Amino acid sequence: MSKPIVVSGIRPTGNLHLGNYFGAVRSFLKMQHDYNCYFFIADVHSLTTHPTPGNLQAGVKQVLAEYLACGIDPELATIFIQSDVTEVMELYTFLNMNAYLGELERTTSFKDKARSNPENVNAGLLTYPVLMAADIIIHKAQFVPVGKDQEQNLEMARKFAGRFNRMYNNELFPLPQPFTFDGGDMIKVPGLDGSGKMGKSEGNGIFLYEDPKDIRKKVMRAVTDAGPTEPNSKKADAVENLFTLLKIVSTPDVVTHFEAAYNNCEIRYGDLKKQLAEDIIDFTAPIRERILDILKDDVYLGKVAKRGAEKAHESAQATLKEVKEIIGFRRLY
Ligand code: TRP
Repeated sequence: MSKPIVVSGIRPTGNLHLGNYFGAVRSFLKMQHDYNCYFFIADVHSLTTHPTPGNLQAGVKQVLAEYLACGIDPELATIFIQSDVTEVMELYTFLNMNAYLGELERTTSFKDKARSNPENVNAGLLTYPVLMAADIIIHKAQFVPVGKDQEQNLEMARKFAGRFNRMYNNELFPLPQPFTFDGGDMIKVPGLDGSGKMGKSEGNGIFLYEDPKDIRKKVMRAVTDAGPTEPNSKKADAVENLFTLLKIVSTPDVVTHFEAAYNNCEIRYGDLKKQLAEDIIDFTAPIRERILDILKDDVYLGKVAKRGAEKAHESAQATLKEVKEIIGFRRLY
């Protein structure tokens, strides 16, 4: 029995933070055993923001090392770099012929980016969902584990896949579905600033690669309030967030202790933060060590990237051959 196919990508534009880990990465770690997973680093997508060659290379290497340090196993999953698999760019070109200006312009992420960076509304940004669709359907993925922010892009991927199938009257591409592990929502890791979600662009992240000293500083600066004056009061959002983080990284008895202190109006946020910082560091420190080790090992990174590229290439090539047949490209020699 062949395993269902899963594809997911991440742009190499920053380090992985706790939100990435407890959202996507943790799902990947479980999924790699039961699904045929393709995880890749979307370096071509990242060109929409014009990185320097140095930043591009460093970013790709860093994200690859971080994925591996978290426990993504290149023996189980196919982990590769997008630009190594050029078949994706061919499929992207073909799909672009049936992607319409109107629908691309209406995409929320395009509108947001065009609004926030009016000086850089490039064609790559407009056709971002087309490249993303190519990434996914070139492996005939059934499932794509993505967060809420990518739902519309995934819907576009289904649209382009279905359009190709209908246009050529076949069922080459499965329609890729969003996937959340256990059928539930992914854990949403809050930020330390009282906002809803930890994110790169929100600037409120705690990174797996971060120095313990800096983690302590960030946690100690987290937003709180003056403390409860009535027993069992409702927590302010920022305080609730600290408890949510505590539940994620600390043991249940620690959580119970601080819950009780809060409910009795005896909470000292300084103590809570100290404990939280240490528990975050206990969690991130071993990962950080592994990231540093892996980053030193260019031979290993090269081997992983090569093996991943070969496996992804094999799958992509098979699909592209079918696509070209179907479209009507025939060699005359
Ligand atoms: N757009 C995704 C993001 O910004 C990255 C991505 C590119 C992706 N291609 C993909 C995710 C294919 C899933 C599948 O997070």
